[in-house]
Amino acid sequence: MNNKADRIIIFDTTLRDGEQSPGATLNVDEKLTIALSLARLGVDVIEAGFPYASPGDFEAVQKIAEAVGIEGGPTICGLSRATEQDIKTAAEALKPAAKKRIHTFLATSDIHLAYKLKKTRQEVLDIVPEMVAYAKSLVDDVEFSPEDAGRSDPEFLYQVLERAIAAGATTVNIPDTVGYLTPSEFGSLIKGINDNVPNIDKAVISVHGHNDLGLAVANFLEAVKNGARQLECTINGIGERAGNAALEELVMALHVRRQYFNTFLGRPADSTEPLTNINTKEIYRTSRLVSNLTGMMVQPNKAIVGANAFAHESGIHQDGVLKNKLTYEIMDAESIGLTNNQIVLGKLSGRNAFRSCLKELGFELSETDLNKAFLRFKDVADKKKEITDWDLEAIVNDEINTAPELFRLELVQVSCGDNARPTATVTLRTPDGKELMDAAIGTGPVDAIYKAINRVVNIPNELIEFSVKSVTAGIDAMGEVTIRLRHEGRIYSGHAANTDIIVASARAYISALNRLYAALQQKGVKEEIPQTANV
Ligand code: KIV
Ligand code: ZN
Repeated sequence: MNNKADRIIIFDTTLRDGEQSPGATLNVDEKLTIALSLARLGVDVIEAGFPYASPGDFEAVQKIAEAVGIEGGPTICGLSRATEQDIKTAAEALKPAAKKRIHTFLATSDIHLAYKLKKTRQEVLDIVPEMVAYAKSLVDDVEFSPEDAGRSDPEFLYQVLERAIAAGATTVNIPDTVGYLTPSEFGSLIKGINDNVPNIDKAVISVHGHNDLGLAVANFLEAVKNGARQLECTINGIGERAGNAALEELVMALHVRRQYFNTFLGRPADSTEPLTNINTKEIYRTSRLVSNLTGMMVQPNKAIVGANAFAHESGIHQDGVLKNKLTYEIMDAESIGLTNNQIVLGKLSGRNAFRSCLKELGFELSETDLNKAFLRFKDVADKKKEITDWDLEAIVNDEINTAPELFRLELVQVSCGDNARPTATVTLRTPDGKELMDAAIGTGPVDAIYKAINRVVNIPNELIEFSVKSVTAGIDAMGEVTIRLRHEGRIYSGHAANTDIIVASARAYISALNRLYAALQQKGVKEEIPQTANV
């Protein structure tokens, strides 16, 4: 495929750039779950991580390459700086994938050269072809990014790109690393590259951009009009600082305004052929999964996947929509898989029905996980008459994809009310198998629970976000709690779902503390666990 291709390649970097959002750290199993979901969504390339960055990143890329990078699946990509060590490590991690890509980068803006790299332009012109050629000796598919391209001298950029392509890069990615450009500037930059890089027809032009000024998606669409054919994006737009361009917004813009974009891709305006390979009906589910696992909540007014994106509040709008949906709706909620909330199971449903419903929803669980999830389903079904596909998703995500269970909640009990001092008792199993109990009084029931848990776990932290929302409508709905806490400047998130929001609150807190504890263990820091409260 060259840059005149008549389809847009979707390159997802949720697991690499997205995971760089503060507090969004994912463990290997969670990354694998998201990668499987991205494959189901139909992304062309999954940037699975930065293998040289840490052993955890290496393992995640390797596991994704093995389990998701199968024949007929997406290309699996690993990031590397332009050094032999990085590139070699990326190639090693990617080995099991049927289609593998090394993405190597080196900054080209004067400010990065002078202060970060302390290199001259000539040095960059020498390093880029050498490292691209090295990557090419290890894999066929090589992507090169001139970091901070948006603030680089275009004439210098053209020279760097020409050398990268001559050395074997099949994709050249143009990052607006600091989210500085406006749409017309980004469009002109891509046009300039198309017009001035002599061998540009041998590579796909890709774009990558951050949302510091809220312009990333608009910039990408302008880039498409000027020849970009690969878009690097993340689910829910998560990423460094203000995030990356949001996959769901780009894909739906190209989908809804296909007739407008068709001509820029050399198609007849009325062509109905999709512009991307994305199965748009998987968008909502993937968005929820990423939000739950990263703890990055989606704002209600977020385009496409926000809770209000398809809600009509004003009477005039509601009246119009009842008469004809198209009066106020440019796309159907169903097109992103939003109205899929169907009752699928009840209290009397058996294991087989449960298993086949999960399969339909895209969950292929091991026998152990299936047993765990089934027990949990029975428990929920006892309290909630009708189980919908969203409930099932919440159950599975909660039961299977949790952070490592170092501390485990065995019991939580609260007493509260308008004439009571909120008091909580908790029993936790510690990582070394001890059962510890403690109690505390708080300003409210959740505060009391968190104080009681803190007395046992004993890792100082600051709760910076607590949110609760219901999975479905109805008084018996399951509640989902997401929390974020801070310890020594780092953010850790936790998520849990339960028909009892007090239990969900406790479990979400434990899940965040487990991530924090795991990180401390990795650093070799062992916190004191009080022995006095042992029961
Ligand atoms: O924002 C950026 O420049 C990046 C590069 C590594 C592509 O993430
Ligand atoms: Zn980036």
